[in-house]
This record gives sequence, C-alpha cells and structure tokens, in this order.
Amino acid sequence: MPQTFHGWPHRTPTGRAAYVNGAYVPHAHAQVHIEDRGLQFSDAIYEVWGVSNGGLLDEEEHFDRLERSLREMQMAMPMSRGALKFVLRELVRRNRVDNGILYMQVTRGAVRRDHAIPKSPPRPSLILTARRISARTVEGRRKTGVRVITRPDERWARRDIKSTSLLANILAKTAARDAGAFEAWLIEDGYVTEGSSTTAWIVDAEGRLVTRDLSNAVLPGVTRRVIMQAAAEAQMPVVERPFTLAEALAAREAFITAATLGATPVVEIDGKPVGEGKPGAVGRRVQELYAAESARKASGKAD
Ligand code: PDD
Repeated sequence: MPQTFHGWPHRTPTGRAAYVNGAYVPHAHAQVHIEDRGLQFSDAIYEVWGVSNGGLLDEEEHFDRLERSLREMQMAMPMSRGALKFVLRELVRRNRVDNGILYMQVTRGAVRRDHAIPKSPPRPSLILTARRISARTVEGRRKTGVRVITRPDERWARRDIKSTSLLANILAKTAARDAGAFEAWLIEDGYVTEGSSTTAWIVDAEGRLVTRDLSNAVLPGVTRRVIMQAAAEAQMPVVERPFTLAEALAAREAFITAATLGATPVVEIDGKPVGEGKPGAVGRRVQELYAAESARKASGKAD
C-alpha cells in the first residue's frame, strides 16, 4: 500500500506546494476540517486563472468575478486583492509553473452543520493550488480542434455564480469523455447555454461571432469578456444572443473558451462536422487577438 496523507497518495502531487488558510504547505499534507461548509454543502466559490510564461492571464478580470460571486453568496473577500495577488504569484513561483493553472477556492469555513448561513460567520477557508499543464497539449488542441457532444442542461438556476456545486457539470463532462469528446454543450429550451466548463461560441453565415448573452443561465466567462473587448477593438462583429443546436450545426465555425484553453476550435458536434470539419480562419483570428491581448497585458506589468 502506498503511503497516503489524508487520502492523497503522496506520489501523485498536484504540485509541490498548496496555500491553505495563511500558510504554504506541502501539497500532500494540505487539509481543511471535515465540518468545512465547502465539503458539507459545497458552500464555496472558486476561480481559475490560466498561467502562461509564468504570469497569470486576465488577473484583474478573474478577481472582479471572484468578488462578484462572493458578494452574491454573502461572503467577504478572505484578504485584500493586493494581498491575494502576492500569494497567487508566490504559489506559481513555488510550484515552478510556467504554463498551467492556478486554482482558488474560498469556502464559508468550518462550523457546526446547519443549512442556514451562520449569523456570525466562521473564518472562510482559502485554498490555493497550482500545477503545470503541458503547453504542447493545449496548443495541439487549438491546432486540431475538439469534438463536443450535447447534453440537457441540468444545472441549478444561478450559473452566473462560480460555485463549486458542479454535479451536473461533472456528469456532462464525463458523458463527453465516455463518448470520445472533449466537451459537452448544454442545451436548455432548445438553446445552447454553454459547455460544462467552457463558454460556447459559433461563427454565423455573415462571419459574426455569436455567444450567449449574460444572465443567470451562464457563467460570465472571463476569456469571453476579454475576447469580446479585443474583437470589438479589431472591428470584428460580435452578437450576444442565444443560439440553437441547429444553428451551431449549420455554423461556419464553432469554438470554446476558458481560462486554461484560450479559444479552442470545435470541429464536430454530436458526430457531425461543423463547417468544413476543421479549425477555421475566424477562430484562428480570435486566438491571435487573445494572444496579443495577453502579451500586451504581460508586458505592462510592473513585476
Ligand atoms: N471553467 N462556463 C463554465 C460553466 C465554466 O466552468 C467556465 C470555466 C467557463 C469559462 O470561463 P473562463 O473564461 O472565465 O475560464 C464557462 C473553469 C476553467 C473550471 O471550472 O475549471
């Protein structure tokens, strides 16, 4: 039997160091209490930053969304944005992540189990991990494109909050994996809401980018927000509206966006090719715009 720490097999670390409640700890030893409301109720908010060349992508925009999610759940920031930024960078450094992912979770903390939000809130738990993702894998996906399947959207009604309550998302993603696809697009009332962990986009017959308008039905994707701004500056037309599965199947191109993916082309939906069944020019242009915007932000940083 391999030695384990709190159930974590120590030979399969998610990184060297984690940050838990004020301390950098070896990943295999990192822990929160069993009464933590994140564990008991998934009473927790999370954020994911992509890391590229050792720097955090869209750092401020992810903080904006974190603050919004916490506010919606009547939770306070565990530390100031400035202090958190310092910790995030230090964790990336300690884990020697050049390209990869930085994960943050803020739970309401550990307190005797009772559904209602405690009147005097416990100290929130702050959990951070960072690990590498092969840049070649991500780049390869962007070059070849990915397949998606569709599933009914069975999630709760406040998908605008980035909560760790992700049961419907994980079932949909598992169905995609079992079907040999990368992602599941979720369908509600005939319209695509988004992917199980990505924003869904199509390119219509006029060459316009189409993605669903923001509401409680979808997570306000940070990559979406940055790409929308970059596209507007580049005079690329973008339309925010719901689109149907039939429209997606008839689209010129389709792609998905997320912090650790950038813009990744979708070449097949439910076994049927999108457009020519290979990555297209508009998606490539979006990738270039996002890369240029990321490079511009990285060069503007003081550190
Ligand atoms: N997922 N929609 C959903 C449901 C998501 O979970 C995500 C991100 C997105 C894209 O958002 P952004 O561009 O801010 O990454 C859209 C993250 C990466 C995750 O759960 O790991």
